[in-house]
Amino acid sequence: MIKYSLLLILTIGIFSMCANKKSVQFEFPESMSETLKNANQANVEKGLALYRISCAKCHTDTVKGKERIPDFTSEQLSNYEFRFANKKHENNLGETQVTQDELILINMFFAYKKKNK
Ligand code: HEC
Repeated sequence: MIKYSLLLILTIGIFSMCANKKSVQFEFPESMSETLKNANQANVEKGLALYRISCAKCHTDTVKGKERIPDFTSEQLSNYEFRFANKKHENNLGETQVTQDELILINMFFAYKKKNK
């Protein structure tokens, strides 16, 4: 019985995690063409996936059961030095761990992520 309850809790847990993961929203400027929006959509989703792999474990909080990703600015992210801004970055964000191309996509994700209230 306990075994089944655990399995149920696990299943619900996984489901709600997936549901939460979908809830990240993006905002593109009105003036942006549909073609560009669609192209950007694909890139920001890649950026989100990369953020989850390389950054989320330290930077995503859970607020009232919902995922809360910080609103990092392009100034904060564009600087090469941010890879070494602190000991944790130094150990986790070396060029072999997160490539320049990956950082560009992560940057793009933050540029178009809907800001937290
Ligand atoms: C192993 C933990 C860890 C990982 C992984 C990590 N960070 Fe950080 N990060 C920190 C800590 C600790 C700080 C300094 C305290 C703070 O602002 O939370 C920090 C600070 C920052 C800041 C500066 C915030 C400010 O106040 O100016 C930015 C921007 C940032 N991280 C972005 C990222 C991005 C983007 C990634 C993924 C590519 C990442 N971090 C991965 C731990 C981490």
